[in-house]
This record gives sequence, C-alpha cells and structure tokens, in this order.
Amino acid sequence: MADSPRRPDLAADVAEVLITEEQIQAKVRELGARLSADYGAEELTLVSVLKGSLPFMADLMRAMKTPVRIDLMEVSSYGGATTETSGLVRIIKDLSASIEGRDVVIVEDIIDTGLTLNYLLRYLRGKNPRSLRICALLDKPARRLVEIQIDYLGFTIPDQFVVGYGLDFAEFYRNLPFIGVLRPEVYEQA
Ligand code: IMP
Ligand code: MG
Repeated sequence: MADSPRRPDLAADVAEVLITEEQIQAKVRELGARLSADYGAEELTLVSVLKGSLPFMADLMRAMKTPVRIDLMEVSSYGGATTETSGLVRIIKDLSASIEGRDVVIVEDIIDTGLTLNYLLRYLRGKNPRSLRICALLDKPARRLVEIQIDYLGFTIPDQFVVGYGLDFAEFYRNLPFIGVLRPEVYEQA
C-alpha cells in the first residue's frame, strides 16, 4: 500500500520515550567534544546520511570546534513504509565535493542491520579519503548482519522500532525532539 489513510498523531503514537531531548543534547555535546579533541584544528568533512541524520548533524557540527565542511548523501535501504530492511541500498543523492585526501566522518542516525553503512563505507573508501570514521547516534546491535566498527556512538538501544530526532516511520515523526518507541499498532495498520 502506498499511502496509509491513517493520519499520524505525533504525541499519541509514541508508546514510550526511550531517550529524552535533554539526554540527546548532553550526548551530542559529549560527542562533539570528543570529535573536537580528536581532530583538533585539522579540517574535517562530516558526511551526513539523509534524511534521518539531519537533526543530529545540525546539532553535532555546532558542538564542534574543529573547522568542518559538510556534505550530504541520501541513500535508501527500506522499501516504502516497512520497518524491515530490504538489504538493498540505492544512492539517491551523492557527495557534492571530492573527499580525496580528506579526513571524513560519516554521521548516521542509527545502525540496524549495518547493510547501509557497510555499503557506504565501501563506496566512500573508493573515493580515497585520508581517513574514514563513523559517528552514529544510535546502535541497534540485535539485528546486525555485518560487523561495523563504530568510532563515535551515542546510545545502544534494544530491538525496538524508534522514531523522532530525525528517525521516521513512513516519513513522519522526524520532528519529535526525543527518541520514542512507536506503538506497534501504528506500523501494523500501515
Ligand atoms: P541498516 O542498513 O539496517 O543498518 O539500516 C539503517 C537505516 O534504517 C537507518 O539509517 C534508518 O533510516 C533505518 N532504521 C533502522 N532502524 C530504524 C528504527 O528503529 N527507526 C527508524 N528508522 C530505522
Ligand atoms: Mg538513515
């Protein structure tokens, strides 16, 4: 089904707040400080993976003192409104500048099966950056299919479908300022 007739009710559709706005902001400041300490005054390119990482990237870059450039990629690994990964990764939007010889950190919202990042890592390594690291806000290790080394991690979460702070279900809920667990009825009805 392409479109659900059900209208999202942002507040009511969340069963439980898993990570509060305050917890997210504290963690982002901590990650920003770690990145600033590691990269210092070196130039760094942050590559955000749209659309889920948009708020994380926006907050993280402002928590950093390092001179950063940003670039945006958009990939798709999910078909439509499902909560299961298809294993298929497609580049919808590519980098806009070369990363050859540059220090690069991929900024991701969540690592679930790891298939998306595994693909992206290979793709970006092929562009010959000087270094390539991963900064992920959330890690859901229960469903991992490929091993990924996460250099900077916010939170490890249980095997639940979460929304908010960039994360969506069927393109909604991204603007919630916290991370919450979606009521199963919401995606079971979709
Ligand atoms: P992976 O390829 O399975 O690691 O999937 C990563 C992508 O799946 C993320 O960038 C999200 O877009 C999406 N994703 C995985 N788990 C969740 C979730 O709990 N809520 C919302 N999106 C998710
Ligand atoms: Mg994503």
